[in-house]
Amino acid sequence: MHSSPKKYLFIFGTRPEAIKLAPLIKTMEKSRKIQPLICVTGQHRQMLRQVLKFFQIKPQYNLRIMRKGQTLSGLTARLLNKLDKVISKIQPDYIIVQGDTTTAFCGALAGYYRKVPVIHIEAGLRSGNKYSPYPEEVNRALIGHMADFHFAPTKSAVENLRKESITKNVFAVGNTVIDALFWGLKKIKQDNKKYEKKFSFLSKDKKIILVTGHRRESFGVQFEQICQALKEIAVKHKDMQIIYPVHLNPSVQKPVYKILKGVKNIHLLKPLAYPQLLWLLNKCHFVLTDSGGIQEEAPSLGKPVLVMRKVTERQEGIKAGNAKLVGTNRKNIVSNVEKLLANKALYNKMSKAGNPYGDGKAGIKIARILETKKVAKE
Ligand code: UD1
Repeated sequence: MHSSPKKYLFIFGTRPEAIKLAPLIKTMEKSRKIQPLICVTGQHRQMLRQVLKFFQIKPQYNLRIMRKGQTLSGLTARLLNKLDKVISKIQPDYIIVQGDTTTAFCGALAGYYRKVPVIHIEAGLRSGNKYSPYPEEVNRALIGHMADFHFAPTKSAVENLRKESITKNVFAVGNTVIDALFWGLKKIKQDNKKYEKKFSFLSKDKKIILVTGHRRESFGVQFEQICQALKEIAVKHKDMQIIYPVHLNPSVQKPVYKILKGVKNIHLLKPLAYPQLLWLLNKCHFVLTDSGGIQEEAPSLGKPVLVMRKVTERQEGIKAGNAKLVGTNRKNIVSNVEKLLANKALYNKMSKAGNPYGDGKAGIKIARILETKKVAKE
């Protein structure tokens, strides 16, 4: 006799969580032992919708939590209240959260309060600075202490957990972002013409620098420095074109449009759908970013990454040599970009350093472990 499948409740709310959970959801949908259920908090509205459509994921619950200019406390309070109601209604066997967002933190906390075992995907990343990434560094660490299962992307993430005495049910499986990347690349290959058309405004004989930037710890003066650096690069290097899909957070939109609107070889775009971003990532010369996910994706496509942050919890790319921390200071960003433009050997070294974040099978590995293991209860 078959026992009935266990209910796994996925809780997520932002674009990167959706991308990174999609491979696991897709794998679990095929399992007879697992019933995946999906609750999106809607921490993001527009930016999440596109990803769900691309991966054909249909949530059972959408909490529509987002408010324009939401504060962290307001967001947290609304999330906890609404999530508790969903959990008490569904009575899941497990809760799955990913990464370090406020949705992930609240999902884990609401689960812990109801004594539902929590599974943490992408566990163990640490920058060592509680204000950078802010509030993600502390969100992720706290989730680690609440979770019962820890799926770490790399060995150093496992080691970070061990240092905090988190040693039970810890598995190094790679990052599911690579699974999503391979899947996405296959799909965009089939539709290449569509993307060529979408980006036909790009000049064929100018190299592309792909830029993204949205981190809270950089808001204000540092963000203005980043924008000034981009302007300087664009003005000095007319043979380059900068493409910047601008995050919808008003604290990002305001300085970016104020400083960069109208600069000739800078294209400010609306946030891109995931496959469009992958297409550009594949086409670009290198990436200038503060995003976590892009630091993980770019090495698989052989693209050097200059990280516009003071510290990163993705140390593996720095150690492997794909990525370099360039901070948020205008001069420093410009000089590092110019070095990479002028020094071919450096460019080749960075683009050929290989990908330390996984083999594209993390989703399958996680599903297998969950199908066969039992949570070691406290
Ligand atoms: C959040 C996560 C961050 C993640 C990022 C990915 C937290 C605290 N931060 O940051 O870890 O890297 O998402 O994008 O969990 N907005 C819209 N439409 C959208 C999305 C956002 O208008 O679809 C605007 C809203 O005004 C919102 C603001 O962006 O108030 C900020 O959104 P929020 O989720 O609070 O923080 P992010 O900066 O997006």
